[in-house]
Amino acid sequence: MKANFVVRETVPGDFAAVNSLLKKAGMLQKGISRVAFSRILSRNKRFCLVATDNSKVVGTVFGFDDVLTLHVSKLAVDKAYRRKGIGRELMEELVRRSKELGLEIEFVFLHVAKKNKGAVALYRSMGFEDRNRVYRFMDI
Ligand SMILES: CC(C)(COP(=O)(O)OP(=O)(O)OC[C@H]1O[C@@H](n2cnc3c(N)ncnc32)[C@H](O)[C@@H]1OP(=O)(O)O)[C@@H](O)C(=O)NCCC(=O)NCCS
Repeated sequence: MKANFVVRETVPGDFAAVNSLLKKAGMLQKGISRVAFSRILSRNKRFCLVATDNSKVVGTVFGFDDVLTLHVSKLAVDKAYRRKGIGRELMEELVRRSKELGLEIEFVFLHVAKKNKGAVALYRSMGFEDRNRVYRFMDI
């Protein structure tokens, strides 16, 4: 059954809910500080979104643009709300925004672990291609 959710821009008051959602979804080990959260939002206001169900945050995604590319990270949906179209709607709203805001974004870029079958299926179904050429610089 489709959930009755609303997608909107993330606001500073979503800090605790987003932090908890990301930690529960295994997307952040330690969580994010309030300062870092505010910095992310102030830099990328248009591309940080949450999905809410009766004002409860049940999904989140962060996007940031480097003018030509929209980078997407930290897509997560509350376990109890998965497979209801929320992840797809968050992603589609990001893509819509990247087209509609009069920007010159040419690509939407993200990385996903191959073993994350659910996320891979979602991105494939939206038309993302597997470029398989990601270099990761760790341990800074
Ligand atoms: C990946 C994730 C965000 C998907 O969110 P979601 O709201 O459940 O996804 P949707 O309901 O919009 O799914 C859309 C489509 O993606 C595919 N899909 C999503 N989850 C899937 C799964 N577990 N297995 C197979 N296909 C899946 C399906 O094609 C689905 O369409 P369908 O339900 O009509 O078959 C969610 O599972 C999650 O939060 N996972 C943990 C965090 C994570 O891995 N994030 C991605 C990091 S790259």
